[in-house]
Amino acid sequence: MLSYQHAYHAGNLADLHKHALLASALAYMTRKDKPLSYLETHAGRGLYRLDAPEARKTGEAEAGILRAEAEGWLPQGHPLRQALAAIRATRGATAYPGSPLIAGHFLRPTDSAHLAELHPAEHAALSEVAAFATPYRQDGFQMAQAICPPTPRRGLLLIDPSYEIKADYTAIPRQIGLLARKWNVGVIALWYPLLTDDRHLPMLDALAGAHPDALRSEVGFPPARAGHSMIGSGMWILNPPFGLRDEAARIETIFRQRL
Ligand SMILES: C[S@@+](CC[C@H](N)C(=O)[O-])C[C@H]1O[C@@H](n2cnc3c(N)ncnc32)[C@H](O)[C@@H]1O
Repeated sequence: MLSYQHAYHAGNLADLHKHALLASALAYMTRKDKPLSYLETHAGRGLYRLDAPEARKTGEAEAGILRAEAEGWLPQGHPLRQALAAIRATRGATAYPGSPLIAGHFLRPTDSAHLAELHPAEHAALSEVAAFATPYRQDGFQMAQAICPPTPRRGLLLIDPSYEIKADYTAIPRQIGLLARKWNVGVIALWYPLLTDDRHLPMLDALAGAHPDALRSEVGFPPARAGHSMIGSGMWILNPPFGLRDEAARIETIFRQRL
């Protein structure tokens, strides 16, 4: 039974960190003519409304992307700003793209996209907005293991679980190990929460032991509500594209200076 719904959290500070790095990676990777594959294990519904009751209820977008835009956190021309502007131009001013539509902004007709989303309603909504991709109503890791190495072989896989199942923390290093062995050129990006009880740390230790050269970018922020255990956002990226380490450092500085 899946209870997590990203509509309550879309556009929050964790999305800002994750989506800024995703957009920067894809902007760089699509500069070359060579086609690529884009895969997501946990895609969500693809498109959110920042004036929806869910978003208003938590106020997370207000404290996230809406504050960042009002205060100009991201520089002019930043890939995430470009993607947001393009999506709002077609989908309306209150639209906020999830990771699939951010990717869709950068992908070309020669690229391939595979998106897994297990929740029936989220999958149905995703299928409506992501015509550029093949949607799968399947466990995301099963999909990724079946497709990798993808064709074209150049590409990026985003793993963005809701961590509802605590076993995710132990399963992820093993899943990534298998994927990296089959697809040694793949850019594999994992989002994870920074938690007050440090539950995420054994997973990161396991990943660091197996892949010491991966990029680890973390930003801290106040909990969305008093007593909430998420106090930051992390992105762990294997084979980061050129320039992404510098971009991660810039984003981390922005979060430190603004919060
Ligand atoms: C954090 S949200 C995804 C947000 C999205 N990546 C974005 O940035 O816009 C996680 C999603 O994973 C879905 N999900 C949970 N378990 C899954 C699984 N085993 N396979 C595929 N999707 C799953 C949930 O229904 C939820 O929509």
